[in-house]
Amino acid sequence: MSQNVASEDLARREAEFQAKIDAGQVIEPKDWMPERYRKQLLRMMSQHAHSEVVGMLPEGNWLTRAPSLMRKAVLLAKIQDEAGHGLYIYSGAETLGMNRSEMIDQLLSGQAKYSSIFNYPTLNWADMGAVGWLVDGAAIVNQTVLAKCSYGPYSRAMIRICKEENFHNKQGYQIMAYMMRGNKAQQEMAQDAMNRFWWPALMMFGPSDKDSPNSGDLMKWKVKLQSNDDLRQRFIDRTVPQAEAIGLTIPDPELKWNPQTRHYDHGEINWAEFYEVINGNGPCNKLRMKQRRDAHENGTWVREAAVAYAKKKSAKA
Ligand code: ACO
Repeated sequence: MSQNVASEDLARREAEFQAKIDAGQVIEPKDWMPERYRKQLLRMMSQHAHSEVVGMLPEGNWLTRAPSLMRKAVLLAKIQDEAGHGLYIYSGAETLGMNRSEMIDQLLSGQAKYSSIFNYPTLNWADMGAVGWLVDGAAIVNQTVLAKCSYGPYSRAMIRICKEENFHNKQGYQIMAYMMRGNKAQQEMAQDAMNRFWWPALMMFGPSDKDSPNSGDLMKWKVKLQSNDDLRQRFIDRTVPQAEAIGLTIPDPELKWNPQTRHYDHGEINWAEFYEVINGNGPCNKLRMKQRRDAHENGTWVREAAVAYAKKKSAKA
């Protein structure tokens, strides 16, 4: 095939692909897709899966110190859900042609990112409330939209994940509400957790639209259906009344309801901090990666045993 014919063929296929997307059709693993669509999705899905797995660490830290058996059981169930979310998304990402161990190697070598939020420390029990309410709340806002994205395996994984995240969000809010009904020290703990997690939760939605290099492609291909800033705004609008209802103050002096736009105006995010964190210099980046590397190394024998078992089974079959 001459180069001209090949590039005409590619242009035709890309146009057909875009027409499918524009018509709201779902792309499945065996469908033709532009190489860049595949790569962008793989990047986003693998980073998302890594976030679910690394996200277990800040909460795992509090399992042995939960204030009651009930709280411990709930937290344990939530953390197990996050492991499951990682597995669904890794499986979805594998349909794009990279296996899970390669993705994990990219995480452990620092080539792949995971959500900035998990590089902040969890200092006390109220942080379990803030993580469930704010972090999982932000994740839900982002993920309910991803549940309608153009790639079938990703959108389907999101449906179940969002249901579980709703439970996580409610348990976090309940911890906060409970502490706000407690004594002064407990109320101060809850407010302190709110103060520390509010801005990092807003950063979870990514840089502002004008500084988001991947959004153009992702919006065109309906992987993203709403922009980083729109989703961040949606999160703020739904979270402020929840904070007010239990007596918490949002740590943003510029936060104000705007009756014209019918949204909350808010202060500027500290983008320098965001870039420091995503470039590996947040408060806990080194610790999180060390914990993941250690867990990976300690799990070597489990993976080896699983591979040996699978081989034995397929030999028998
Ligand atoms: N944490 C770490 N890295 C981030 C974050 C963040 N909060 N936000 C943006 N980035 C990175 C992007 O990965 C990208 O880097 P890369 O090109 O090296 O991969 C860079 O910053 C520029 O950002 P964008 O161009 O805006 O990136 P993108 O279009 O992918 O949008 C977003 C980022 C919104 C996080 C998107 O990838 C997404 O929706 N991902 C799926 C959801 C997800 O991963 N959630 C994780 C937390 S959910 C939980 O609770 C586990």
